[in-house]
Amino acid sequence: MYCDDIPAPLAVNYNGPMADPRFPATRLRRLRYHPAVRRLLRNTQLDPAKLILPLFARPGKGVRQPINSMPGHAQLSVDFIAEEARQAAKFGLGGIILFGIPAEKDPLGRDSYSDSGIVQQAVKAAKDAAPELLVITDVCFCEYTDHGHCGVIADCGGRKDVDNDATLELLAKQALSHARAGADLVAPSGMMDGMVGAIRAALDGGGFSHVPIMSYAAKYASSFYGPFREAAASAPQFGDRRSYQMDGANIREAMREIALDIEEGADMIMVKPAMPYLDVIAAARERFDVPIAAYQVSGEYAMIEAAARNNWSDRDRVIMESLTSIRRAGASVILTYYAKDAARLLG
Ligand code: PBG
Repeated sequence: MYCDDIPAPLAVNYNGPMADPRFPATRLRRLRYHPAVRRLLRNTQLDPAKLILPLFARPGKGVRQPINSMPGHAQLSVDFIAEEARQAAKFGLGGIILFGIPAEKDPLGRDSYSDSGIVQQAVKAAKDAAPELLVITDVCFCEYTDHGHCGVIADCGGRKDVDNDATLELLAKQALSHARAGADLVAPSGMMDGMVGAIRAALDGGGFSHVPIMSYAAKYASSFYGPFREAAASAPQFGDRRSYQMDGANIREAMREIALDIEEGADMIMVKPAMPYLDVIAAARERFDVPIAAYQVSGEYAMIEAAARNNWSDRDRVIMESLTSIRRAGASVILTYYAKDAARLLG
């Protein structure tokens, strides 16, 4: 007999001299039948300390504005951000990453670099509530601009597009303002050329040489960001992001992006989205020695939730399997809307 319910399998020697030549000598299933052996030999571990929870900060007090396409998540006023920070610390999460949705959007996204801006308020509240918790900020403009693009718009040869170098100056201001508010780590996500170098120089010049940069280095122009754009009200008002985010068909270009960001001073790099780009994570892991993060984005979350809410899949198991696959591909850290769920499941 050789099946899942062998009563005393260690006593059965399939490879000995008495082995039946009709059956294979190598038995991989021997290491699978016993849950304790499976647990002992598991290659990839999930740990709440490696998970980062994204949160959306909005103005007001006592406001929890649900996000339709991300059931279970909401835009939160700063007092609720503080509460989430306390919970994240209690769950032993690796940290939180904050996105700001300002009361007023304008062409330059001024709120993002105002010391009294929404994300600055959220950082302060989170650090006050949970001083030991790692608080990261997303450094970008699309949540703050009225046109929804990730930088300053200019006329680029008769075509409206994001002006790379004008945006760099503002990105530097924004990152510095986040650091002044108390951000422990900044994460530029706008895919501007030179953004890491510009931010590094600004942080160093402003007395924040100890603040690391996690660069969204290989960020693809992905349809999986759809729900986020509802969450942050950041859908581009014209065109799309394909002149700055990467084409989903490319992997060598991702390696160039990552190499350049490391050269410019990125301490960690990110691949985003995660599940549709596991090959990119794996290739980056092979090639670079910096810590690699992956972002399980809003659309990945929405797909899993939609299937689960229809009873088409086992939510908890799909969550754990998806996170495990991202870790197995080589990500050290995962940004995921499931951070608290996973911590609960692991606890
Ligand atoms: C840009 C940013 C985006 C996400 C994180 N940072 C949106 C975009 O590039 O359009 C997407 C995250 C998600 O989909 O969960 N600031």
